[in-house]
Amino acid sequence: MCGIVGYTGNREAFPILIKGLHRMEYRGYDSAGVALLQGDEVTVHKCRGKVSDLEDFCKGKDLSGHLGIAHTRWATHGEPNDINAHPHFTSDHKIALIHNGIIENHLVLRKALEKAGYLFNSQTDTEVLIHLIEDIKKNECLDLAEAVRLALSQIIGTYAVIVISVDNPNTLIVARKGSPLIIGFGKDEYFAASDAAALVEYTRKVVYLNNEEMAVLTPGNDLIVKTIKNEIVPHSIQKLRMNINELEKGGFEHFMLKEIFEQPRTIRESMRGRLSVEREVVSLGGIVEYEERLLQARRFIIVACGTSYHAGLVAEHLFEDLIRIPVEVEYASEFRYRNPVIYDDDVVIAISQSGETADTLAAIELARQKGATILGICNVVGSSIARATHAGSYTHAGPEVGVASTKAFTSQVTVLILMALCLAKRKGKIAKNKYIRLIEELETIPDKVQKLLDNASAIEKIAQYIKDFNNVLYLGRNYNFPVALEGALKLKEISYIHAEGYPAAEMKHGPIALIDENMPVIVIATNNATYEKVVSNIHEVKTRKGKIISIVSEGNSEVRNLSDYVIEIPQTHEMFTPILASVPLQLLAYYVAVLRGKNVDQPRNLAKSVTVE
Ligand code: G6P
Repeated sequence: MCGIVGYTGNREAFPILIKGLHRMEYRGYDSAGVALLQGDEVTVHKCRGKVSDLEDFCKGKDLSGHLGIAHTRWATHGEPNDINAHPHFTSDHKIALIHNGIIENHLVLRKALEKAGYLFNSQTDTEVLIHLIEDIKKNECLDLAEAVRLALSQIIGTYAVIVISVDNPNTLIVARKGSPLIIGFGKDEYFAASDAAALVEYTRKVVYLNNEEMAVLTPGNDLIVKTIKNEIVPHSIQKLRMNINELEKGGFEHFMLKEIFEQPRTIRESMRGRLSVEREVVSLGGIVEYEERLLQARRFIIVACGTSYHAGLVAEHLFEDLIRIPVEVEYASEFRYRNPVIYDDDVVIAISQSGETADTLAAIELARQKGATILGICNVVGSSIARATHAGSYTHAGPEVGVASTKAFTSQVTVLILMALCLAKRKGKIAKNKYIRLIEELETIPDKVQKLLDNASAIEKIAQYIKDFNNVLYLGRNYNFPVALEGALKLKEISYIHAEGYPAAEMKHGPIALIDENMPVIVIATNNATYEKVVSNIHEVKTRKGKIISIVSEGNSEVRNLSDYVIEIPQTHEMFTPILASVPLQLLAYYVAVLRGKNVDQPRNLAKSVTVE
């Protein structure tokens, strides 16, 4: 959560910082602020609201300066308001700091600092850090970098910080533990940010700081990376491969709509170089080295959060069906705190779009300590999870900016299908003709998604119908149960209508009590082994006057006759329905949110990259 960005060099810092904040606004958007070095003072402008509110707030002010930092916040400690917004600064305006993360021992530190005479303005945990740095610097007569280092060594919790001071007028001091921080190199300039999106316009040369590392960035001086324990460590310069067009809306009204419509291409990208129908082969370069270990696995444990967890649930079916190895799927946040039994021949698969989710990272760390092999399925190249795993596969969906995940989900499922097919073949668990049939069908999926998108206007009509209800129930079975969960998550995230996904047969153990004429029920009833059972569930809803919106396979008339509204998806193998069936549900959630006048790309209280637990 929270986006941080810093600049030092010959250019005007403010426009670079504001652009960087816009690029990272999906990380948090309840308040924003900027600090610029101007003469012998650090000037701070900050306010509640979005980055555009900060821009309005700054209009007419002197915004000159070649050294600056900026922050977009997702509040943890202290409500979103002007005072709690970052940057935080010393009372003499000599030092300013931005922070992403949580300082868990802030109360103890705050008490000690208050006793020493420091006055606190905000309710944030971050403010203790600025006073602690000030205190150490003053009392121990240290330079700023050393004071920052010693202050951070007292912190329990997570941080990515950037500090500036009037005493070091060209210098950014950066450090990280838990939350991400990337350093960018320009010509006689340095950039630092939480996310490559904020830097890619200016440089493609970057260094990803590792946990508990810090650096002093002064143009003209080479980069030296140190640990918080003061040991110099090597660093490697990487090249960003991000495309700037992917960070723009490209003519669409919202990022989410653009990302939904990108799916035929992004699914193809996920398959590129990995699937060849002519050569009858599926291979994933990123896991080749670990294939033997995967084939010998006692069990797969999938850890993830949010939408990525739903992709994990699809994988449970795929892997058990095709590879015949038991699979457990866990919310990373539950797994990390429940003393799980993990064997060294278990394979843990972490799925994460951002590659930064704090709970998923912690789950990986736990599994690593127990000796398991860890695979990552991430979208963001170079992200913390991608670097913390033994091996893995990128989804290659490109930057996902809309907070509600769409193309990342279908790409995750695509990569998981490829992984399941590849391992099933290597383990000898799949007949050749079935394998070939499946890869031939998989190759047609992007075109089938395109067909669904071409018919998006039909979904808009259903959105008109849904938009005024207070509750919606989503039902599915087998491969379609995770689709029901994901469909419900999409609707509640962006339209704020309460929605629940349920296994269709479980409905009679509870949710059926809710069904009356005010309860629309979205049922995924595509052709598969449980189709007939789902039809019975539809009858149970109808009998109680519930409204049925069904997703069926093309040509189905039975369910059509029972439904108030119908969405047809192209015929496919049941293993691939999660991709096809989730697309209309993404569109439905999108159109409902737009009709209800909600902020689709930045829904209330949510953030895209959840770096706090
Ligand atoms: C947040 C995002 C979701 C995402 C979840 C897990 O809640 O808003 O879209 O599914 O985090 O994130 P990850 O990056 O690990 O997939």
